[in-house]
Amino acid sequence: MKGTLSENTVRYCVFIIFLYVFHTECYNNLVSSYFLQESEPQLSQAEKQKQSIQEVRRSLPIFPYREDLLAAIREHQILVIEGETGSGKTTQIPQYLLEDGYTEGGMKIGCTQPRRVAAMSVAARVAQEMSVKLGNEVGYSIRFEDCTSERTILKYMTDGMLLREFLTEPDLASYSVIIIDEAHERTLHTDILFGLIKDIARFRPDLKVLVASATLDTERFSCFFDDAPVFRIPGRRFPVDIYYTKAPEADYLEACVVSVLQIHVTQPAGDVLVFLTGQEEIEACCELLQERCRRLGSKISELLVLPIYANLPSDMQAKIFNPTPPGARKVVVATNIAETSLTIDGIIYVIDPGFCKQKSYNARTGMESLIVTPCSRASANQRAGRAGRVAAGKCFRLYTAWAFKHEMEETTVPEIQRTNLGNVVLLLKSLGINDLIHFDFMDPPPHETLVLALEQLYALGALNHLGELTKAVTAGYFYNTARLSKGGYKTVKHQQTVYVHPNSSLFEEQPRWMIYHELVFTTKEFMRQVWSRPSLCSSFYGWLLEVAPHYYKNKELEDSSSKKMPRKQGKAREELG
Ligand SMILES: Nc1ncnc2c1ncn2[C@@H]1O[C@H](COP(=O)(O)OP(=O)(O)O)[C@@H](O)[C@H]1O
Ligand SMILES: [Mg+2]
Repeated sequence: MKGTLSENTVRYCVFIIFLYVFHTECYNNLVSSYFLQESEPQLSQAEKQKQSIQEVRRSLPIFPYREDLLAAIREHQILVIEGETGSGKTTQIPQYLLEDGYTEGGMKIGCTQPRRVAAMSVAARVAQEMSVKLGNEVGYSIRFEDCTSERTILKYMTDGMLLREFLTEPDLASYSVIIIDEAHERTLHTDILFGLIKDIARFRPDLKVLVASATLDTERFSCFFDDAPVFRIPGRRFPVDIYYTKAPEADYLEACVVSVLQIHVTQPAGDVLVFLTGQEEIEACCELLQERCRRLGSKISELLVLPIYANLPSDMQAKIFNPTPPGARKVVVATNIAETSLTIDGIIYVIDPGFCKQKSYNARTGMESLIVTPCSRASANQRAGRAGRVAAGKCFRLYTAWAFKHEMEETTVPEIQRTNLGNVVLLLKSLGINDLIHFDFMDPPPHETLVLALEQLYALGALNHLGELTKAVTAGYFYNTARLSKGGYKTVKHQQTVYVHPNSSLFEEQPRWMIYHELVFTTKEFMRQVWSRPSLCSSFYGWLLEVAPHYYKNKELEDSSSKKMPRKQGKAREELG
């Protein structure tokens, strides 16, 4: 009995102790969770993103050099900055300058980009990093789209837009800093900016000029800007193994598709970047890839196929920056925009067919064309470099090692040396620069092209005999006229066969004659921006003789105008209304 009692007592005590412990435990749990909440409040999604953005900013190769860079900028008026793609030049330097007070007193920092997509995408990223709405403090300006406001102090823009600003503000007085970014691209507009900015820097000692470039030939920039110092940002670059094909590829598009799938099936994790030359090719490649992935179904892991080119809507463009989900692989099919302008993190494999689209100009025929040509060795090396930014990578060149050595140029010829200079001459003349032969070009355009441009503008009446600008530009598109004859349109003076672009509103109209803004060769020799004035139709030749008697001979016009029109072609004045 005694024993039973004591047993019960013990059971009771154990129960009481259990209850006590249980409660205390619960209480402690409660308390600790309460304090945990107090001391470590849950971060909202936005705050987490902000924190990670700041971490990315601090992890960029440029970050440790922030102070040195700012000191160098304080000390020198013109500074050349060289750094590996992705080191943070475009997104970070304007922010550092802002933090260092360069926008005080309402001054702006301007940063030029040769490509529209880059200007938009980089501005969006910087606005995000600064937690401001795009278009407010950070904005961009590209042709036909101005996403800036009175509050804008960091302005990204295409190089062409900054050139236009010279017309309204020839000393760029509202800017404290101008960054000419992607200087190595040597676009036509960038090259002209070099000359103009070098000039205004002389009488605006307060203006800071930064010339930023990928790791290419920066000595030339330094030399042009009176031996400006070069600030080098040491990059992080992992080794990249380069593979060539044994024989030339007959169809590089197909070769790209096969290579992507081979990488996807045989290689360890890592995203793929493919370089193609334009929208059409990129879309075709993406479609082929998607179709073959569909056919393979669950036999392969997920492959995300993402295109990137200038005309792609911006929400689609932004997709290339999204992190790849675990287990999947991303393949970005890009134009050479991804060579240095945009940095896509996570790329381990690069596929390079070795081509790009390039403008070329034939001064004799007056024809500008955009043709697919082999890219330069410097370009090919930039492309390969994209594979080694986050880890050791591989670059698959779809051409032979021999072709690399013998068929590719060392560097790309600057655009100014292979383009029609008409617009450039007009722009410079309207800025009051009359002596174009002695303009400070980094690489002067061919003498013949410059003279031809001057000659054309003189013939148009846009320049007088002293080479000064008249305001008669509108009087003269007589140079760019074409008439309908057997088999289509021919230019009036040189009898060259040209075509109306199918996108044109006049494509089906087929008036007897047309005026065009420019001749561009893509798949055919197309006239761009065409129009026809019905009221002048009947007296077209009379009009030509009136506005350009010095250019067209009566006989030359009559001869061909008396020829019979092809049947059912060529609408007369009445029909056009
Ligand atoms: N649109 C973007 N989305 C996400 N990250 C970006 C974007 N643009 C840039 N970044 C990040 O900023 C880094 C630096 O880019 P950037 O300043 O353009 O370098 P650089 O101009 O030196 O080539 C990139 O490596 C990437 O991590
Ligand atoms: Mg950049």
